[in-house]
Amino acid sequence: MENIQQRVNELHDLLNQYSYEYYVQDNPSVPDSEYDKLLRELIDIEEAHPEYKTADSPTVRVGGEAQSSFEKVDHDTPMLSLGNAFNEEELRRFDARIREQIGQVEYMCELKIDGLAVSLKYVDGRFVQGLTRGNGTTGEDITENLRTIHAIPLKIKEPLNFEVRGEAYMPRSSFMALNEEKEKNEEQPFANPRNAAAGSLRQLDPKLAAKRKLSVFLYSVNDFTDFEATTQSGALDELDRLGFKTNHERERVADIEGVLEYIKKWTEQRENLPYDIDGIVIKVNDLEQQDEMGYTQKSPRWAIAYKFPAEEVITKLQDIELSIGRTGVVTPTAILDPVRVAGTTVSRASLHNEDLIKERDIRIGDSVVVKKAGDIIPEVVRSVIDRRPEDAVPYHMPTHCPSCGHELVRIEGEVALRCINPQCQAQLVEGLIHFVSRQAMNIDGLGTKIIQQLYHNHLIKDVADIFYLTKDDLLPLERMGAKKVDNLLNAIEMSKSNSLEHLLFGLGIRHLGAKASQVLAEKYETMDRLLEVTEEELVSIHDIGDKLAQSVVTYLENEDIKELIEKLKHKNVNMKYKGVKSSEIEGHPDFKDKTIVLTGKLQQMTRKEATAWLEMQGAKVTSSVTKSTDIVIAGEDAGSKLTKAEKFGTTVWTEDQFVAKQNEISG
Ligand code: IVH
Repeated sequence: MENIQQRVNELHDLLNQYSYEYYVQDNPSVPDSEYDKLLRELIDIEEAHPEYKTADSPTVRVGGEAQSSFEKVDHDTPMLSLGNAFNEEELRRFDARIREQIGQVEYMCELKIDGLAVSLKYVDGRFVQGLTRGNGTTGEDITENLRTIHAIPLKIKEPLNFEVRGEAYMPRSSFMALNEEKEKNEEQPFANPRNAAAGSLRQLDPKLAAKRKLSVFLYSVNDFTDFEATTQSGALDELDRLGFKTNHERERVADIEGVLEYIKKWTEQRENLPYDIDGIVIKVNDLEQQDEMGYTQKSPRWAIAYKFPAEEVITKLQDIELSIGRTGVVTPTAILDPVRVAGTTVSRASLHNEDLIKERDIRIGDSVVVKKAGDIIPEVVRSVIDRRPEDAVPYHMPTHCPSCGHELVRIEGEVALRCINPQCQAQLVEGLIHFVSRQAMNIDGLGTKIIQQLYHNHLIKDVADIFYLTKDDLLPLERMGAKKVDNLLNAIEMSKSNSLEHLLFGLGIRHLGAKASQVLAEKYETMDRLLEVTEEELVSIHDIGDKLAQSVVTYLENEDIKELIEKLKHKNVNMKYKGVKSSEIEGHPDFKDKTIVLTGKLQQMTRKEATAWLEMQGAKVTSSVTKSTDIVIAGEDAGSKLTKAEKFGTTVWTEDQFVAKQNEISG
């Protein structure tokens, strides 16, 4: 047995070493066949002796078991985003603000990798959990997919505990190969490498993710307790040393002139990179100075993202198509001669509304300038007047709904034209699509196409009909195999147990977004109680305004809606709130509603444990010390946060004092 363990250890070390050389250093020392041979040997051992298979075995690179969903996990500290600068002036303003507050600084310039943000947690030097950014506070646990990325070390050189953050991306070469294959199989290709990377990391089957050849660049450390670094550049060097992949095009510059030079260089050279970038990130290099600058609600004040200007191209506007949204809003879409812009072929672009078409005097037949807003959504910028055909006439929106023929109205104060016919087919279909969408009932496999198909085959008319679908209804439909039908019915069944806020949001009540749905579900707990609520009661809730209150009450008073709810109940669709109510956290008065910062190295517990305990007591644990911080709990070697707490006169506890308090309360 000892021999097997020894060989397993050897294989782990060799395979990790080869992955590192190939994927991090870009400098393999052995041919691929050698890696494959050793991996095969390890797989065979693990199959014969499953007790030797560990979570960090290099065999996880090929992908483990498929999951049914991704678990939602709160980030230890929020994953923020960056403020943007689009030109030199905005960059100079950023620099001026910094120098005003902290004097001369050195900047770190980094490429802004166009992928998706991930956070990787290491415990005792082993990769244990990887999350997406999600909404910044809560992400999704995509550990198994991330383990398939060879550039992510499963084990690092030292047994450290910390979290690193970075950007997962798909190299251009992997992207091209993937799309070629998709086209060969007559599948829809991905629009760009970023979408492809995001799609791959959202695969529930890690074996599929493993085939997608993703990579990662790490750019920050979330918790510096175990880290020597005092600068961003030092932290990146330290990450390199530990075996992480960082981007080596980074440069330290002395001032804003250096930043501008770096930007100029990469504006010219970005096309030569083997991966996509969408800008440059500029960071104050010194970590203490970073702390001094602090954060806004959403982003650090010590960093900014310079975004490359959107590429503009000219093409011909063939036609203007109108679509009707869920709430009856008519949106004009430009139909274009297909043209390549910012990496993808564009043949449709939003024209937003009638006013915009008039303002820009955009006419069918015009040559138009097209760009991608935020490098994602195609948009018509303007017409090229001197190329206008002689017979081009100003565009007028129709007076009647192109779907149902009902007269269109323009509601006062709104730019949009609206079809107000509640029976309008186009609106009903959009409403159904909204109902099954991710933030609403999240019914996997029930996409736009199938909804349209079901509607047009008279199988569903309202959202409740979805729960009455049977195998016999679905099987005869085009492109619907037995397996697909089973999966679909399963997903529908599963969705019945969603917490109330999903159903509320899914119903598509005017002005009721996902957040307000959550507020209502938490407050009233059941649909029955909501059905009785009055407008006065609703407006007294902090997050609910007049317009929304009126809309909710009017909606729920409607007899047709009451019937719809009965129809849903009849199929056992859950009508109760299932989350924990924030008001139910009793907590301890010493901690409830207090803002607490943990800093330095804790000896008797991990930061996560401390945070979890504090949150149980009703406290809010945040990462930076501000005037509103109530208590700072300082472990060993606490740095600038402690200094700051002293400056503000904030209460500071040692770890021992904190533990004593814990014992007093819990013990
Ligand atoms: S630093 C507090 N550095 O850009 C956020 N971000 O809004 C600190 N990104 O999605 C981010 N390359 O994932 C940083 N070298 C880089 C980056 C980078 C890409 C992404 C990041 C986030 C977005 C910033």
